[in-house]
This record gives sequence, C-alpha cells and structure tokens, in this order.
Amino acid sequence: MTQDELKQAVARAAIEYVVDGEIIGVGTGSTANFFIDELGKIKSRIKGAVASSEATATRLRGHGIEVFDLNDVESISVYVDGADEINATGAMIKGGGAALTREKIVASVSGKFVCIADGSKLVETLGQFPLPVEVVPMAANAVSRKLVALGGQPRLRTKPGSTDAFVTDNGGYILDVAGLAITDAVALESEINQIVGVIAVGLFARRGADVCLLGTGDGVKKLTF
Ligand code: A5P
Repeated sequence: MTQDELKQAVARAAIEYVVDGEIIGVGTGSTANFFIDELGKIKSRIKGAVASSEATATRLRGHGIEVFDLNDVESISVYVDGADEINATGAMIKGGGAALTREKIVASVSGKFVCIADGSKLVETLGQFPLPVEVVPMAANAVSRKLVALGGQPRLRTKPGSTDAFVTDNGGYILDVAGLAITDAVALESEINQIVGVIAVGLFARRGADVCLLGTGDGVKKLTF
C-alpha cells in the first residue's frame, strides 16, 4: 500500500467517530485532507465544522460544509487531525503544516482527539522530526537563543524556494527545532510555552490524542490512550 492509500484508509476509518448533528473539529495536512474528502460524502449528517487553518476551511467549504468560527461554538465532541510523530502515550509532534497554534486551540475545546496517521508516524521517542515552535516575528532570535540553551538547533522556516520567512495564518514565524530527544514531553511543552515570544509549541503532550488510527500494511490499527 502506498502512503496515500494508508492515509486514505485511516481517514475513512475516522468517519466512525463523527457525531451526527454536531460540529466537528478538523485538523490540517495531507491526512486531514483525506478526512475532509470523506466528510464531504456524509456532510448531510453534520451541522458543520471548525477548521484549524485557512487551508482546511477552504477545503471544507469546497465540499459544501459550513465552517463555524470557534467564538460561536462552546465545545466540540470530536477533533480529527494528523500528526508528524506520535508516541505510545499519545503525545505528538505537530505543525509540519504550520497550523499548530489553531490545531492546539481547537483540540483544547474538544472532548476527544482522534489522531489519524500512517504507520511511519509512530515513534519510540519524539524529536526525530524537528519540533515546530510558532513565535511572534520580533522575538524569533530571542526565542531561538533560549531553544539553543535547551539543547535544540532552531531554524527559521522559510517560504518554499525563498529565503523570506514563512508567515503563518496568525502572522507568526515558525522555528523548526532539530536535535531534541524528547523524553519528558509534558515538561518540555510547559518549558517552551513559558518562553516569552512563543505563540505555541508543536508538542501535544498535555492534551495528547485519545485515539490513534494508524494505517499499516495489515489494516488500520486502533491505539487508545
Ligand atoms: C499541520 O500543522 C500538522 O500538525 C499536521 O497535522 C501534521 O503535519 C501531519 O501532516 P500530514 O498529514 O500531511 O503528514
């Protein structure tokens, strides 16, 4: 099976978690895109969705799914999103697609976080994938120095094919931090959150996944945490 077929399989499996008549939280990235396409097929069953990025909102609307502002929604039963890495406790690295801050916000008001990922995302120790940290632009270098002190090697994310800084949906910059072997994800998440200038860190450990649907050659495996 190709990686796309694995992503499609987990996206299809996640439909089982959709609650009829409700608003669903929807993540960002290639796996989430497959989920949005599946959601389009059953759109009459849901009231609408809250999107974790402009790209996701556009794709949802393209399927005729109403997109709600989170300010108009009190709580969400289920949030479905991908991950860059996930470990055996359901802690994740996210933000490869630069949507970490809004993903974290939508996840924080959701009852259940359903992670959908191909099998390559399951790791023993988080940190092989550079950890994305969204920062206020003027604080990029100041935050970088603090991340170096924590043992990381931060690199400012740039626009594809350019040396200009990549700018997020929130007007932030992203530092991709290599070289961290994350043994205590909850502690590191708290520590990085406290650096002044950080908007959000792509460690989802304090509020990790509740379920992971993992695409493997032997079918979709369900991990619960
Ligand atoms: C987006 O900012 C990320 O958190 C994505 O959820 C993550 O990068 C997974 O993306 P893919 O599904 O494209 O691998």
